[in-house]
Amino acid sequence: MRIMDTQIIKPIAVGDLHITRFTIEHFPGDALGIPTATPRMNWTYSRTVPDGSQILLKISRRIPGAQAREEYTYLPPEDNVLVPWQFTPLASREEVFATVQLVSAAHKPLSDPSATLHFEAGLMQEYEHVADFVGPSWAEPETDHRHLPLVRTEIAIKAKPKRARLYLSALGLVEAEINGVKIGNDALIPGWTNYEQRVQCWTYDVTDELNEGANAMGFWLGDGWYRGRLGFDGGYVNYYGDRLGVFAQLEIEYEDGGIEHVYSNAWDRQWKASLGPIVCSDLCEGERYDARLEQPGWSEPGFDDSNWKPVSEIFYDPAKIENPDTSPVRAHEINEPVSIARTGDTPDGRGIWLVDFGQNCTQRIRLRIAGLEAGQSVELHHVEVLEPNGEIATRTLRRGQQHDIYTSNGTDAWWEPRFAMHGFRYAQIEGVVGELTVADIECHVYHSVMDRAGELETSNPLLNRLHANASWSMRSNFVSVPQDCPQRDERMGWTGDICLFAPTAAYLYDVYGFLKSWLKDVRADQVKWGTVPFYVPFIPLGGWAHPQAISTWGDSAVEVPWVLYMESGDPQILADSYELSRDWIDEVAGYLSADGVWDRRPDYVLGQLGDWLDPTAPPDDPTQAMTEKELVATAFFARSCAQAEQIAQILGKSEDVVRFGDLRKHVTSGFLGRFTNLDGTMTSDTQCAYALAIAFGLLDGEPVRRVKAGNRLAKLVRESGGKVSTGFAGTPFVLPALTMTGHNEEAYGLLLSEECPSWLYQVKMGATTTWERWDSMRPDGSLNPGGMTSFNHYALGSVAEWMHAHIGGLEAIEAGWKRFRVAPVIGGGIDHASTAHVTPYGKASVAWKTSETGVELDVTVPIGATAVVELPDHEPTELIGGTHHLVVAL
Ligand code: BGC
Repeated sequence: MRIMDTQIIKPIAVGDLHITRFTIEHFPGDALGIPTATPRMNWTYSRTVPDGSQILLKISRRIPGAQAREEYTYLPPEDNVLVPWQFTPLASREEVFATVQLVSAAHKPLSDPSATLHFEAGLMQEYEHVADFVGPSWAEPETDHRHLPLVRTEIAIKAKPKRARLYLSALGLVEAEINGVKIGNDALIPGWTNYEQRVQCWTYDVTDELNEGANAMGFWLGDGWYRGRLGFDGGYVNYYGDRLGVFAQLEIEYEDGGIEHVYSNAWDRQWKASLGPIVCSDLCEGERYDARLEQPGWSEPGFDDSNWKPVSEIFYDPAKIENPDTSPVRAHEINEPVSIARTGDTPDGRGIWLVDFGQNCTQRIRLRIAGLEAGQSVELHHVEVLEPNGEIATRTLRRGQQHDIYTSNGTDAWWEPRFAMHGFRYAQIEGVVGELTVADIECHVYHSVMDRAGELETSNPLLNRLHANASWSMRSNFVSVPQDCPQRDERMGWTGDICLFAPTAAYLYDVYGFLKSWLKDVRADQVKWGTVPFYVPFIPLGGWAHPQAISTWGDSAVEVPWVLYMESGDPQILADSYELSRDWIDEVAGYLSADGVWDRRPDYVLGQLGDWLDPTAPPDDPTQAMTEKELVATAFFARSCAQAEQIAQILGKSEDVVRFGDLRKHVTSGFLGRFTNLDGTMTSDTQCAYALAIAFGLLDGEPVRRVKAGNRLAKLVRESGGKVSTGFAGTPFVLPALTMTGHNEEAYGLLLSEECPSWLYQVKMGATTTWERWDSMRPDGSLNPGGMTSFNHYALGSVAEWMHAHIGGLEAIEAGWKRFRVAPVIGGGIDHASTAHVTPYGKASVAWKTSETGVELDVTVPIGATAVVELPDHEPTELIGGTHHLVVAL
């Protein structure tokens, strides 16, 4: 049956034609310091573009010291995504203001010009990084918990600048101030990269901060990832180096065309360092600040720095200084406390308070310090959960105790740590004089800047909370690198976690730049360590010191670029990551047994991680899963081969297409031969086994066995009473496999179960983020005794991918969402749901509600894309750009 009664309720409104979004490359909007001289451009339309129209692209470009030049070109309107740069390449520092506008063939305006997009090239040549990294010249202790330095300089400026840029980087972490004012709202600059290979340099517009006459620049320096304690099992200090340094290059242009540069250096005697008030700071352990050591006015001109020391240079190869592909970590919204209660007193009678922020996430408290005498301290402990007796649960943090201490100089102040970051819902604040109220607390949520891209809402509030939890855990862990958790002494870029969560992440946020940047480090570590390490950036830690190829974790080398490509339609990411993906395939091919099965045990204590954290695994051994590890490894590798084959095809690498294609067939047949039986059962009779076989298409050539496998999976789900029985590896694929084999009822049954272990069990237990373990908190409210128990791990939130595609009903068919499917699965007692996703062509959305006779849908198709509506018992219907209302009998 065709969907007959499709009505277009809002057909192409006249007079409503405008450009809705205008960006370059994969940056969210205006961007300073971009890394490319030929940025591609994207724009979207509010409605269908009239025939015969064209795009007028106008730019005004200017190199400092020169006049602006206006240039323009006309372009066909239907190419509006990743349009190649139309002009001569940009020079370093060149600034562009650009607009696009729809005009007729006779050049008459058909729309207003778009909002002006402003972007500017970074320093693109090695020799343009003239500044040096400079830091303390005194001998510092070699361990962590070092007293942190400040660096300052003064400059005389002949007139108010026309334009000024600060290029800022550091070995360590840095916060810059000019004339006493913090520059930008970013945190943890320059971010975590594999510093042996590259460090990011950020560009700030500081035109307004500089005045004619005397000016001062000051820099707070912190240990951060560069030389702070990193990771678990005791961690590693000074991994990249043991000396901190700031790179600061200030470039000023005057109205008269004159240009002046100021460079951090150790030779002109204008740069000095001193110990500051941060007594020590560790990303996980916390920060200690002693206000008695403050030096008022230190980043303002005229400050007496005669007892400051000269700085010394820390050599770093300028060729490794990069313009970022991504956006920095920044403070976002304020998270207000939901309750503040006094729970006790310090020995001297000051209050101990427990503050509940209602939401677990990565955040930092800005606290009002009032009424303290000099030398008195306030201490802050940050935790995710409370013990059943109401005390703060610090055991799960392990060494990363998230403990800040502020010591007063006797004056009231507002204070927030600079170089520590915390994952918490509750804070215990000790030593408060008088009452602690909401007015004393400003808690900022932190994560890397990314545009929100996806939403989902349903008639079931528990599902809405589950979805919100997935997105909170994502935000909490997208902090410079995709880390596993934001609270304990870990926070590493575990490759498996992102391998499993990437599709969900790419729907929820625009993660192209963020993951593109991280993939560079994955490749660098692959070259260095000879495999894709367990986590990236890699640091040798405890039992994990020697990277081994591990399934699922290493498959991120193929899956993550593939997901970014499918989301964006940009094959550049496949080309950029090609060596990474190819070398992973070639490496693992060498570990296969003759029949194509990956059963060689990696030479490391746990072997394969398999279906990590399967709910039957005991608290102290997360690898003891029900599903054979070799099965999981072979399934994931078969999928990687299939993806690599498609990647090679897209990039026109014909020899590799054949090679990877043969390998895919070999591995698939090994998988079938070793792990499946003719009656459709599998050697591991588990949800994970069937889910992987079906979802990765390994049974596609065996239709009868596939049906049987689907039936068996559905039966296992029914028999389990709806309880989840998969770990990290199987979880993203169980609901998709049920849907693919026609078992939506079981899919909903599993999703909606509230018993432990299940997704809604966590929600029912009050989770505000996704937990690491199904039972991080047990039904009696006690915490899982495992040494590895986090309440903020995104991996199990990968179920959101199914929710987007099948509850909301939105899923890309072609790379870049040029064609997408609208196929909500009506069921699970849900009577209405909606989802939206910002595609390269604009926002796509579906909102549906059940009616007496079937379902009504509102579908928005972005201009330039096509939606295919697929509903049971109806032939697929195509919808073009616009808003459509569909009434469908079911
Ligand atoms: C991390 C995980 C990670 C796992 C692998 C854990 O400690 O938190 O998310 O993938 O180790 O072994």
